[in-house]
Amino acid sequence: MTDTAVSADTKAPTTLGKMPPAVRLPKPVQMVLMAGFRRSFLRYAVKRFGPVFAINVPFFGRSVVVSDPALVRQVFLASTDELINVQPNLSRIFGPGSVFALDGKEHRARRKLLAPPFHGQSIKHYEKVIEEEALRETATWPEGVEFRTLEPMNRITLNVILRTVFGADGAELDYLREIIPPWAKLGSRMATLPEPPFSTGRYSPWGRLAEFRRNFDRTVFALIDKAEADPHLDERTDILAMLLRSRYEDGTLMSRQDVSDELLTLLGAGHETTASTLGWAFERLRRHPAVLAELVKENDEGGNEFRQATIQELQRHRTVIDFSGRHVQAPHFDLGDWRIPHGYTVMVAIANVHANRGIFPNPERFDPDRFVGTRTPTAWVPFGGGTRRCIGAAFANVEMDVVLRTVLRYFVIETDNAPDEKIHFRGIAFTPKEGGRIVVRRREAQPA
Ligand code: HEM
Repeated sequence: MTDTAVSADTKAPTTLGKMPPAVRLPKPVQMVLMAGFRRSFLRYAVKRFGPVFAINVPFFGRSVVVSDPALVRQVFLASTDELINVQPNLSRIFGPGSVFALDGKEHRARRKLLAPPFHGQSIKHYEKVIEEEALRETATWPEGVEFRTLEPMNRITLNVILRTVFGADGAELDYLREIIPPWAKLGSRMATLPEPPFSTGRYSPWGRLAEFRRNFDRTVFALIDKAEADPHLDERTDILAMLLRSRYEDGTLMSRQDVSDELLTLLGAGHETTASTLGWAFERLRRHPAVLAELVKENDEGGNEFRQATIQELQRHRTVIDFSGRHVQAPHFDLGDWRIPHGYTVMVAIANVHANRGIFPNPERFDPDRFVGTRTPTAWVPFGGGTRRCIGAAFANVEMDVVLRTVLRYFVIETDNAPDEKIHFRGIAFTPKEGGRIVVRRREAQPA
């Protein structure tokens, strides 16, 4: 059902210049539904109202949820005079120097500085690091007993991003390795909770986040001092070194605080998302023997086309980040025929776009073949889109490819008819509820 009127010219229903239909439940009820039952609530709302509807939730306020592929494209391609990054956004966790905090000219300039480490050539350098970390973590995997893969995947992706961000291992990295996981857990939970206007004390969640931040900055500033004193800084390929070397077009450098905010952004945005998708990979492969067999065969023959299709299908079928948000900056934003007022949030409902039957037939089926030998549909948007599309998309892809390649090479994953693991919301990412449990046996000895 949509909010329609009748056009004078054509007598056809039109939505021209109107607000999309709204979910009319009390705000606290909408909040509970979005926080605790988001996937089923959105499925229901799309069925009831269609692919564009309004909700009203604390934190993001009055919002329009979009899942129509053509309108999603329009959102992603809108200029920053019309739409800016969602407000508030993750910069409240990462800091005001984070790319998440920037828009327009400043955002473009920062993305330019951040681009070199994420180019194909740089990512090639990181492949070795990814394989080493995958081998290191899987070396102790038990055989014949069921275990969760989510935590091992989190350790791999955290170690990979720490090493690619900071380069060589050392005491500082050991320290960061220790303090980041509890911070990431707390930060994910607090990311969409309003901050109280008064001090809540050092043992409150906000106090603990502030304490982490002081410790993180101290460690990063020490690493910056070391890097600046390094006679080989110019040859280094780690992201810290690249940021310290790069300059804005006017010749200025990033401030130390901005470097620290940005490194925290990459560490925070760059590991749980990838780990959650890998957790889903194992959860799915355990239940899909034909897909697993095809992957193993292809891997043994040295290919990766089907593995790439499997990764794409994983990201469609078990989308880990289900929203990409924008804020209406212009007096209004015309989305198709709808008119959305200034100050509204526009939320692209990524998982609902990925469930579009016209583009992805039988969307509830896990079927990597749908991505074999075809162009990726523009409705495949696990990394968001437009000028804010995930900067780490290629990095994450290579990381998932190399980790899967390594596991498939050294392990047999046992398959069975276990019921699907439920989809569990961890604050930012959606993970398999039981942690992606599998049973493995070794195929061949790993290199020492
Ligand atoms: C499977 C893994 C990942 C998924 C699903 C994912 C998803 C996303 C999504 C949906 C966005 C928002 C895009 C938008 O607003 O349109 C985003 C932004 C971002 N991601 Fe990722 N991401 C992943 C991995 C990574 C990695 C590995 C890094 C860094 C090493 C990273 C860094 C970022 C950054 C910095 C942004 C902000 C971009 C901006 O605002 O300009 N992500 N990501």
